[in-house]
Amino acid sequence: MPIVVTGATGQLGRLTVEALLQRGIPAADIIATGRDTTRIKDLADRGITVRRADFADTDGLAEAFAGADRLLLISASVPVGERVANHRRVIDAAVVAGVSLVAYTSTTHADTATTVIGATHRETEEYLRDRGTPSVLLRNGWYLENYTSQLPQILRNGAVVGAAGDGRISAASRADYAEAAAVVLSAEGHAGAVYELGGDESFTLAELAAAISAATGEQIAYTDLPVTDFAQVLATAGLPAELAEVLADADRGMNRGEMHTDSGNLHHLIGRPPMTLTEALTAALHH
Ligand SMILES: NC(=O)c1ccc[n+]([C@@H]2O[C@H](COP(=O)([O-])OP(=O)(O)OC[C@H]3O[C@@H](n4cnc5c(N)ncnc54)[C@H](OP(=O)(O)O)[C@@H]3O)[C@@H](O)[C@H]2O)c1
Repeated sequence: MPIVVTGATGQLGRLTVEALLQRGIPAADIIATGRDTTRIKDLADRGITVRRADFADTDGLAEAFAGADRLLLISASVPVGERVANHRRVIDAAVVAGVSLVAYTSTTHADTATTVIGATHRETEEYLRDRGTPSVLLRNGWYLENYTSQLPQILRNGAVVGAAGDGRISAASRADYAEAAAVVLSAEGHAGAVYELGGDESFTLAELAAAISAATGEQIAYTDLPVTDFAQVLATAGLPAELAEVLADADRGMNRGEMHTDSGNLHHLIGRPPMTLTEALTAALHH
């Protein structure tokens, strides 16, 4: 049952490959793909098939997916405007390859989300449905790492800055989302499922600031900004303009509850409580 993982050169994809191996899938049954395959040479050394797959290259995708039985489509990154077309090419190539299951990493409440990111996921989900290929939707919530990776900056500024108001966020670690992906790719009975994935405990950004205060002994506040001001802050901090807009818009969605889920789906799929915010902060601070 060869399983293709797209985005294996990235963080979630690599973790999914590791989780598949952990679950006993033989290296010979895993095809790891990405654009910059030099980043996964070590996986080839471990017996995994490594192939180049660029979502913009239809012919290359057909070659990359040849012989595959199941496929994980990890959503592409920027530019956001090219995302849906990229995803459609991947889905088309998966159909041509005759895969029996496509798992897609979507976002929480993609069917109703009002964000720019949400719209790209909704269109991809609709295309998957229209193509009629058996699929499973992994509606991943926000990554805990989106916050833990900002710890140095947060501690320097003495503040978490955002535009999410008191919206609750059900974040989880990339590793836990990867494990859930490995479960649906390697077990039976998930075709047609829609999983809303996130941590068991949600938090607001004020609660994030309080958790960082508790973990570090520093006084960290939450500063809530209007969405346009937050985008400006992100751009001034050096983010490309498009990414700054998209991230500020994601906070707007958080304020509306679009990143919150109490489904328990992640816990259920991985068979244990997902990593909590406090655990993630502790791990990041002692790294
Ligand atoms: N839930 C969240 O909080 C959150 C946050 C950020 C992003 N995301 C989404 O989740 C995805 C995975 O997260 P991550 O942390 O693993 O991101 P990442 O480390 O940036 O990895 C992204 C992967 O997607 C591949 N990719 C991007 N565009 C591609 C294209 N046009 N053709 C082929 N491959 C392409 C990259 O391949 P190469 O490096 O080889 O080009 C890379 O392997 C992201 O791409 C984004 O859509 C979610």
